[in-house]
Amino acid sequence: MDFTHCFKVIVNRGKEFADIPNCLGSQDDMECSHTREAPEGSADTWHNCGCEHHTSAQSRLFIKGGRIVNDDQSFDADIYIEDGIIKQIGNNLVIPGGARTIEAKGKLVIPGGIDTHTHMQLPFMGTHAVDDFYSGTKAALAGGTTMIIDFVLDQKNVSLLEAYDKWRNWADSKVCCDYALHSCVTWWSPEVAKEMDILCKEKGINSFKMFLAYKDVFMLEDNELYEVFKRCRELGALGMVHAENGHLIAEKSSEMIQHGITGPEAHEMCRPEEVEAEATNRAITLANQANCPLYIVHVMSKSAAKVVTKARRQGKVVFGEPIAASLGTDGTHYWNKCWRHAAGHVMGPPLRPDPTTPGYLMDLLANNDLQVTGTDNCTFNADQKALGKDDFRKIPNGVNGVEDRMSVIWEKGVHTGKMDPCRFVAVTSTNAAKIFNIYPQKGRIAVGSDADIVVWNPNASRTISAKTHHQAVDFNIFEGMLCHGVAEYVMTNGHVVLDEGQVRVTQGMGRFIPLPCNSETVFSRIRERERTTKPCKVEREPYDGPVAKITATQMSEKMIVADNPIIPNNAEFHGRPMTSSGARNLQDSTFSLSGQQIDEKSPRRSTTRSLNPPGGKSSGLW
Ligand code: URP
Ligand code: ZN
Ligand code: ZN
Repeated sequence: MDFTHCFKVIVNRGKEFADIPNCLGSQDDMECSHTREAPEGSADTWHNCGCEHHTSAQSRLFIKGGRIVNDDQSFDADIYIEDGIIKQIGNNLVIPGGARTIEAKGKLVIPGGIDTHTHMQLPFMGTHAVDDFYSGTKAALAGGTTMIIDFVLDQKNVSLLEAYDKWRNWADSKVCCDYALHSCVTWWSPEVAKEMDILCKEKGINSFKMFLAYKDVFMLEDNELYEVFKRCRELGALGMVHAENGHLIAEKSSEMIQHGITGPEAHEMCRPEEVEAEATNRAITLANQANCPLYIVHVMSKSAAKVVTKARRQGKVVFGEPIAASLGTDGTHYWNKCWRHAAGHVMGPPLRPDPTTPGYLMDLLANNDLQVTGTDNCTFNADQKALGKDDFRKIPNGVNGVEDRMSVIWEKGVHTGKMDPCRFVAVTSTNAAKIFNIYPQKGRIAVGSDADIVVWNPNASRTISAKTHHQAVDFNIFEGMLCHGVAEYVMTNGHVVLDEGQVRVTQGMGRFIPLPCNSETVFSRIRERERTTKPCKVEREPYDGPVAKITATQMSEKMIVADNPIIPNNAEFHGRPMTSSGARNLQDSTFSLSGQQIDEKSPRRSTTRSLNPPGGKSSGLW
């Protein structure tokens, strides 16, 4: 094998030429023949040629003198890495020659961050997110995040498998860090149920997200949501929910426009926090009834966080994900006089105008009422946001965060004394790795784990700005925030990608990480409950007394006599016909907590009316 092409790359990185056994060692200042093209405008200075020789040489690393921090303990030790894996941890290690030493004295050595919630290059609201899988993952690495979990999110009626392939094609060629995928269920049918099975068994998917917002686009009705939750439980997959009330938002948005309020402040006013709380409670109720574990994405308000907290204290299997945005800034920005500034913060659910919200969410995160952090990174430039300059409903929803999440959480969580470095690790990587079933491959510094490592300097500081960030977007919601705690070196899969201030990445160097179903963290309680809560009938003697007769007039009121007297004999409610064998199609459910009610056309029966229905009391509008 001719390794001449490695020469320039290696010299550029200051490596000893002698480190490369059998290298032909040409002195020619040759370009690496395998070097992949840097994207236009890229400031990248180094590209991995990807040859076997080159990658093994650069993946021999020795991290010396740092303090290793895991979620459960911290200790002083050195780390030796080879071929992308942590091979040794300890003091006085005997290591092979040719390893690069990274001095970590006075620094913390932590597992690389896992961002549980991104939307790179998402086609959305008539445009697409400007940070793609290249710029987005490059920025992630710059900030100390070494893995993202993105969402396959397509229109209703699109095959989930086709959508999955589309996302894999986009991501595989561009990602600079490892990534995994959640799949979104935006419509429901037997075909979707089948595809969920294939996604779980063959495609590395173990979580499905459903929307209770974006009416007519991504939103499911409650009966559909219940069916998806049941399917998730069967498959050992985690249910996830974007919790808002799409019907209510549609109504209130029109009211805002009727009142002549067209700016970004209306975005918050038509979906205030009780709307998020109602949907959070409704989703938790439905998931609990389906015995499905539930993960609430982007917890944005105190009210929604309280609902999650209460449910967890009731023993429900629920996880809550605040994001960098909800922990680091607030919704007062929607009232900013500068339209672009206000629109730059538009996302759903919105940031909350109550300025105590970020601190409150951080308190809950520090104390395990909330468990994981993502970003919902979904970025749009000024001209894209301007699609809604005259109508807030058209402003593409989404903000940044993938680059700054680690710094923001350190600043607002650790620097304030709310959480210690171990908890920081738990909420930025370990808990995500456990929930999504890739622990301890990810989320831990341990022998055998992936070498996704950050050398974190708790004494350094940086000021966040769109002028200096690595994201493609032209705006940063954390602009001007001084953050103590900075990623100094970042290693992904054993490659040093943040190196003395320089980000050095190659498109496509990241890997797809399959997420196996039946995560122990998520499912061990669920499986026990399946057994202990199985409904069982009461054995009793048959009733042999008199039975009332239904008259012909009553029959003509379309009441089914034999099955269930409160269900009208009205096929309209069900979206699908009977099955070929004549049975009711089981993909249909007979109830809805917020949509059209099954007995809406029947006279109200005071004895069956519930004053406290699941999902909370409603005014009866939906
Ligand atoms: O505003 C947001 N959150 N945009 C991305 C899509 C979503 O709802 O997560
Ligand atoms: Zn969402
Ligand atoms: Zn999202």
